[in-house]
Amino acid sequence: MPFLYIMAKKIFSGIPNNILQTILSEIDARFGKTFAWKKRLGKGGSGQVYLSESADGQRIAVKIYREKNRCEQERADLDALRKKCSVKIPEVYFASAVDGRDFLAMEYIDGVNARTNIRIYLAPKEKRKAFAESVAKGVNSILAVRESKFGDPKGELYDKWTDYYFRRAEKILDGMKAYSGKFAYRRIYRLMLFLWEKREVIFAEEPPYSAFIHGDLCPMNMLADPKKGELKAFIDPFDAFYADPEYELFQLFCQSGDFLGLYEEYKRLFPVTADVDQKCYFYAIFAEAEYFLSTGRMLWGVVLPLLAKKRRFIGKL
Ligand SMILES: Nc1ncnc2c1ncn2[C@@H]1O[C@H](COP(=O)(O)OP(=O)(O)O)[C@@H](O)[C@H]1O
Ligand SMILES: [Mg+2]
Repeated sequence: MPFLYIMAKKIFSGIPNNILQTILSEIDARFGKTFAWKKRLGKGGSGQVYLSESADGQRIAVKIYREKNRCEQERADLDALRKKCSVKIPEVYFASAVDGRDFLAMEYIDGVNARTNIRIYLAPKEKRKAFAESVAKGVNSILAVRESKFGDPKGELYDKWTDYYFRRAEKILDGMKAYSGKFAYRRIYRLMLFLWEKREVIFAEEPPYSAFIHGDLCPMNMLADPKKGELKAFIDPFDAFYADPEYELFQLFCQSGDFLGLYEEYKRLFPVTADVDQKCYFYAIFAEAEYFLSTGRMLWGVVLPLLAKKRRFIGKL
């Protein structure tokens, strides 16, 4: 019994047992059968995801959120993406809250994310290439759907991309100013200032149309078959919005994206604008700063490699 207790604590760390029990009771009631917790599938910035299985073998993924009010947004973003994307997007069964904890019950994908899946790194080159090709095609399927305006679907929409984005970027720059005196952030702030001053050059060409943006399409949110390494699903959209169709491509060179050749493969397969590298670098740096300002967490594991890519992406400026 103590062993089971320790294991349970380890597996479900962070979420009190009574809450897990209440969530399970609600799942049982919704599906009309008995489920049990099996293991934790993963953890990220907004929550923890667990595998739950019914006595008759139905497996579902349950995401339990750290913060309130993210759940409905994620459900809406998943539902919108599913209509556009050629890659599987998990089906949402229901979203709910117990004892102030939001959770989402969704389709379980038997896959491991492309950042932590060691097999993907060890796979032969042609398998990695095939993976990169499926990612590029999946990403493009979302970006090829034309939307009518730019901006946040919950807020004001704009006819011109930079009318929306420059406002957003300027707010981020202002927010980072408060940290510019601190050694760790000074370099990032200076780089942001440099990019901001060059914005007219970087964004000389306005995007021809707007596209629906997943909001966090990084390798961590791409699930691959644990054995074959094939792409199985895209998960975890975050505050999806309407933007330059090239906005999200920066995710493809962050985390393990470069090693997997995701960005280069996308550029090989699909037409991009002449300034795609410098634009994407701008987007990447500002997106990381925005994440830091809203959560208090600077993802150094992403930011430091980005700083090292400066010459490659904006060397011409
Ligand atoms: N539907 C799912 N099926 C299988 N594994 C999942 C599923 N959803 C999430 N995971 C796993 O849990 C991890 C964290 O989930 P995610 O939704 O990305 O959380 P966060 O929003 O906190 O980043 C993922 O990287 C993945 O490994
Ligand atoms: Mg995630």
